[in-house]
Amino acid sequence: MDRYAVFGYPIGHSKSPIIHQQFAAQTKQTLSYEAIEVKPGVFSATMDDFFQSGGKGVNCTVPLKELAYEKVDQLTERAQFSGAVNTVKLMDDGTLLGDNTDGLGLLTDLCANLGLSLAGKRVLVLGAGGAARGILGPLLDAKPSVLYLANRTVSKAEAMKALFASVGRITPTSYEKLVGEQFDLIINATSASLNDSLPAIREGLLSPNGVCYDLAYSEQPTAFVRWGLREGARLSVDGRGMLVEQAAHAFKLWRGVMPDTAQVLEGLK
Ligand code: ATR
Repeated sequence: MDRYAVFGYPIGHSKSPIIHQQFAAQTKQTLSYEAIEVKPGVFSATMDDFFQSGGKGVNCTVPLKELAYEKVDQLTERAQFSGAVNTVKLMDDGTLLGDNTDGLGLLTDLCANLGLSLAGKRVLVLGAGGAARGILGPLLDAKPSVLYLANRTVSKAEAMKALFASVGRITPTSYEKLVGEQFDLIINATSASLNDSLPAIREGLLSPNGVCYDLAYSEQPTAFVRWGLREGARLSVDGRGMLVEQAAHAFKLWRGVMPDTAQVLEGLK
């Protein structure tokens, strides 16, 4: 049986096995998908073992995406821009291809599931770390009228502006300088949600009818999702839709067939 897995550290709460098992059942594919806890120090050796013992593909999550980027033999263009790999595929010639389906997963959730159109809209991304870098390319491709990138450490946001200059225009900024601006969509790409805290965002940044999206997800509404609701967001959601959609794009890369995500997403809610 073809083997797949998600590697992460920690990995205990990963929903990826259940998502991929449902995709497999739905598309009548025979495969196994497990969650494996992999410490960064043994990542490379564990990958080698996995692919030598029948592994066909691996998803990588925190904190292994940058290591996967270094490990693979070839990168898709979007993985190159992301500086991170969340999906590894064993190719027929034995080499490893690294892709990053996170940004595409986000855009699919925003546009196909939530019915948003980003063209001409004012978009704000909070945070300029690895999570932000993974989504900036597809967000710019969607042609918002402005894409502000706010970070505590503004120099990191400025570096992202330079990195994505060939794709589109990013306006780097601090949280303080956002006062007076309004956005149709605010995306939280900081790791603050992991501690149930918020970046230093002021009130009044959301346009009437605006939408808030937290890349993180948890059983209870995240601090940022709660902030969005307090600010009167039309929609304030966490990243479980993105989780399912990035998994679907990974499944497509591995198996050549796009699963239907609606049922799986409903089950997760
Ligand atoms: P990830 O890969 O999850 O993005 P990262 O590369 O460590 O993780 O980046 C974390 C991001 O969350 C950074 O943008 C960080 O801001 P700094 O670059 O200024 O450190 C941001 N972040 C984390 N905790 C935060 C907090 N409490 N308030 C604001 N920003 C925070």
